Amino acid sequence: MLIDKFNRPIKYLRLSVTDRCNLRCYYCMPEEGIKFLPQKQLLSYEEMLRLCQILVKEGVEKIRITGGEPFVRRELMVFLTALSKLNGLQKIALTTNGLLTMDYLEELKALGILDLNISLDSLDEERFFQITRRKGLDKVIKTINRAYEMGFRIKINAVVMGEKNQDDLLPLARLAKNRAIDVRFIEEMPFNGGDAHTASKVWNHHKILDFLHKEIPLQPSDFNSTAYRYEANGWKGKIGIIPAFSRTFCGSCDRLRMSAQGEVRTCLYANSGLSLRDLIRNGKTDTEIIQTLQTLIQQKAKNGFEAEKDLRSHDSMSVIGG
Ligand code: GTP
Ligand code: 5AD
Ligand code: SF4
Repeated sequence: MLIDKFNRPIKYLRLSVTDRCNLRCYYCMPEEGIKFLPQKQLLSYEEMLRLCQILVKEGVEKIRITGGEPFVRRELMVFLTALSKLNGLQKIALTTNGLLTMDYLEELKALGILDLNISLDSLDEERFFQITRRKGLDKVIKTINRAYEMGFRIKINAVVMGEKNQDDLLPLARLAKNRAIDVRFIEEMPFNGGDAHTASKVWNHHKILDFLHKEIPLQPSDFNSTAYRYEANGWKGKIGIIPAFSRTFCGSCDRLRMSAQGEVRTCLYANSGLSLRDLIRNGKTDTEIIQTLQTLIQQKAKNGFEAEKDLRSHDSMSVIGG
């Protein structure tokens, strides 16, 4: 079992399988993209599988596959098929921008991978393009509709960019009205691979809630992993707010993140990670890898705020894995 010094066991791995993406969301990376990792530096699927196996033996119950955009990596389904056979792993979930997902829905369902978090910040074609610098809104919407019909559990992730997508917040929220889809609004974080944002620009949890509440009366419901959830009378889905910037959920954090090049970080805000890839490639045994992980996890901060007061980061979210 991997337990930190505040008695929090690590149960949830966020595994980024690629730093590449087919969108260029401006809050995540610059228009020209980032300096993507060369193939050789990426963990191979075999290496990923070995590390997942070790972590599952040590108590990880859920693995969320992230990117970049996970479906941009070739043969993702081959990896997911192998991962789904890991003894002891209770859940595999995916975070995707939904552009390439449609063709894989049947296979995902067959593997029992039914949890999809889909990023969508606007229902307006023009603004979708301004935010992501690419086209594709129609495809994302069709994918959400199809996946819902097929029985996937869907959460929509919408980054709140203040005035930039203020007009999108209510239409997005209404996706939760007639269907059991959670719509979650995320405080923008300073991970755009370029200039850091300043805290003053960020719409915090309360501002987002007040804005929504004026049109949609919301009652507090529960807290789920990263999101404070709210209910609207008669609505099938819930509205969530993820205080990713103010980070009021650190106290119950049970996560570990692994980047596509095999760097593990105990916190989204950690400035650097530890390379498990180098350990593997230097022939370390499972026991040695576990010992290294245990040492790292002992250093996990109680609250990312305490560890990283300086929120300026030039890393793209695409590298960190969300
Ligand atoms: P669930 O497994 O459904 O609970 O998903 P999730 O909310 O953990 O994952 P998702 O990939 O959908 O991420 C949603 C948002 O939460 C992203 O903007 C993440 O960056 C943010 N987030 C996820 N984990 C953390 C974390 O540990 N710290 C902070 N500050 N933000 C996080
Ligand atoms: N701030 C907040 N959320 C972000 N995401 C990507 N970059 C940022 C950022 N700078 C979100 C994506 C995706 C999730 C994994 O992280 O929209 O839904
Ligand atoms: Fe791609 Fe997600 Fe970054 Fe947008 S936020 S560029 S979809 S990785």
